Amino acid sequence: MPAVNWFPGHMAKLRRELVRLLRLADVVLEVADARLPAVSRNPLLAELVGSRRRLLLLNKADLAEPAATATWREAFTGLGEEVFVLAEAGRAGYGQLRQALRRLGEELPGRALRAVVVGIPNVGKSTVINRLGERSRTATGARPGITRGPQWVRLPEGLDLLDTPGLLWPRLEPAEAGIMLAATGAIPEDVYDSIEVLVELLKLERGSRVRVAVEERYGLAPGLTGEGLIDSVGRSRGCLGPGGRVNLEAAARIILKEFRRGTLTAVTLEAPPGGGQA
Ligand code: G4P
Repeated sequence: MPAVNWFPGHMAKLRRELVRLLRLADVVLEVADARLPAVSRNPLLAELVGSRRRLLLLNKADLAEPAATATWREAFTGLGEEVFVLAEAGRAGYGQLRQALRRLGEELPGRALRAVVVGIPNVGKSTVINRLGERSRTATGARPGITRGPQWVRLPEGLDLLDTPGLLWPRLEPAEAGIMLAATGAIPEDVYDSIEVLVELLKLERGSRVRVAVEERYGLAPGLTGEGLIDSVGRSRGCLGPGGRVNLEAAARIILKEFRRGTLTAVTLEAPPGGGQA
């Protein structure tokens, strides 16, 4: 397994910042990635959230397999969690989420409900905030009395939303978690080797869907090694270096980007509990 250096020093500082911001919350909106519904959740969060109400938002559902997402949702719901399935361009999940927040707000007459949005880097925290605010004129600004405070987005319907720094944690489990998080974009490209991450991604149990999608998109014969596949894609994309050799790193980055954007295929990298199939 390649070493993915996912925990830069500043994460410890961000964690302290997160603890501070969570204290301001009436409700915590935990954004997770529907492609890796368990791995993208911070195992320390339950402790940090304490007794506050927490809603789990499975985001990027358009990039995951619908049946797998449904199974994951059931599993979390069975554990007593409140789950909403969201896609940036989708309506249904946001409608349900708005309704739930409105109801929570009604329990707090006299002031706006404060919802703090947490999640790993790039999981879609700002997207969620923008989508929730899009039907109203949103105002952004520091809360009165705080000069350099957190930036709240205030919605006229009585909801204050706060973004928090994207956070990862020091010990990633299972062993493949680093690969999954790098492949889906939670870890910046410059701290890992894209060739290694892609080769390991293709080896994952559910990575075969990615492999087949690459083979189909680029018209490749099945059975290439991971590096062979990257080499072939590099040739067809013109990623050539000195002497006509393929720049494998550049080619791997192209494939990873296509995977991340959903250009290749929708895939749930983490098998749903109970072996639920997509
Ligand atoms: P963050 O605040 O948690 O860091 O995430 P942010 O909202 O900035 O979203 C990160 C990227 O993910 C954005 O793409 C955004 O458009 C995309 N995204 C968010 N939600 C969804 C979703 O439900 N489905 C899909 N397909 N994409 C979603 P970007 O601006 O192009 O950034 P990048 O991909 O170039 O990093």
